Amino acid sequence: MHYDSLKNEHGLPYDPFKAIVAPRPIGWIGSRSLIGVYNLAPYSYFNAIADKPHFVMFSSVDIKDSVKNIEETAEFTVSLATEDLFDHMNGSSVPAGSDIDEFELAGLKPEIGQFVSAPFVSQAAAALECKHWRTIDLPNVDRDKGTGNYLILGQVVGIFINDKFIKDGRFNASAARPLVRLGYMDYGVVGSENTFSKNRPKLGEDGKLQPVEEWDGVYR
Ligand SMILES: Cc1cc2nc3c(=O)[nH]c(=O)nc-3n(C[C@H](O)[C@H](O)[C@H](O)COP(=O)(O)O)c2cc1C
Repeated sequence: MHYDSLKNEHGLPYDPFKAIVAPRPIGWIGSRSLIGVYNLAPYSYFNAIADKPHFVMFSSVDIKDSVKNIEETAEFTVSLATEDLFDHMNGSSVPAGSDIDEFELAGLKPEIGQFVSAPFVSQAAAALECKHWRTIDLPNVDRDKGTGNYLILGQVVGIFINDKFIKDGRFNASAARPLVRLGYMDYGVVGSENTFSKNRPKLGEDGKLQPVEEWDGVYR
């Protein structure tokens, strides 16, 4: 099939878009309301988008509590959602009122950042502390009604890593086993069973790509 995606003419029972753009990391967004209520929710329209300085983004369908809190307080955190925390992560996605502490609801212990005053998941293998940089309202938002898609961009100003996951000077992501979001209600897990290392290819003097060598442990 090959279809007009503006008209969403796929003819399938469900939109396949997210199943195609998969896996997506899950940004587990922690924030705090102006009156101090802790909020936590997973967002899979999430990614890291820059180094030096580090930036992340996530996008929200409609103005949810996370967007409201972040726009009001200018701070948020991103905890790493890992396999062992699946039920807590899933639990934190329920549409609870803004007066509900979603850390408590999901059975998690909050820890306040060292660089921002938003909470992160203390049990997480790693977490990012972020300052809101700006929100980009994607086409067709209606802020009065709070509808449409809102892209939140944040600068990472602090990083927490549970030292247990540092191995040979590197963050051992496959030991932390991050969850990834696939399409529909499907998830995956990143682990040593499905990861591998390879060097980047080099260009030979003949202008052709040289065979890729096994990784020598140097990150280039
Ligand atoms: C794994 C997962 C990923 C999600 N990704 C998104 C997303 O990218 N954008 C979004 O608007 N909602 C997403 N949701 C739904 C939100 O988590 C849900 O609406 C939540 O109640 C929002 O909470 P908040 O109002 O506290 O921000 C996702 C849910 C799950 C379980």
